Amino acid sequence: MNDRTTYFDRIGEENLRKLIHDFYENIASDPVMRPMYPMNLAPAEERLYLFMQQYLGGPQTYNELRGHPRLRQRHFPFSVDLNARTHWMDCMMRAMRKNPMDDESKAFLESYFEDTATFLLNRPN
Ligand code: HEM
Repeated sequence: MNDRTTYFDRIGEENLRKLIHDFYENIASDPVMRPMYPMNLAPAEERLYLFMQQYLGGPQTYNELRGHPRLRQRHFPFSVDLNARTHWMDCMMRAMRKNPMDDESKAFLESYFEDTATFLLNRPN
């Protein structure tokens, strides 16, 4: 990809929205994840979408609405232990399999999710 093409351009807004939507559908039926979220999942889905859009080089709307992401700080109220990490990754990897994309974008996203999910661990096991 040339150096001005972002992963956001490559994946495309519609596909990224679908990926995050499918992830939240998996969250909705996950016994470990579901109880951590409020009844209405739509606002959380929008926050993760806007964050990923920004992270992948698209519009910086997340920062305008939410300020600096400070992801570790924002996750402290939730128990992110190894079991939660496994469930989060399972919800995301099932969404990834449902939404095929080019190999480079897929590898990039998978390693980003793995690394971030490890970085966010905040409870002893
Ligand atoms: C490892 C297991 C994880 C758990 C248990 C977890 C749990 C949660 C919960 C319960 C929320 C609050 C929902 C909301 O109202 O927005 C949240 C927010 C969020 N999470 Fe995670 N998360 C995990 C991993 C990740 C990863 C890997 C990412 C990045 C790809 C991520 C990105 C975010 C973002 C951007 C928000 C919204 C922050 C905000 O603006 O308030 N999370 N997470």
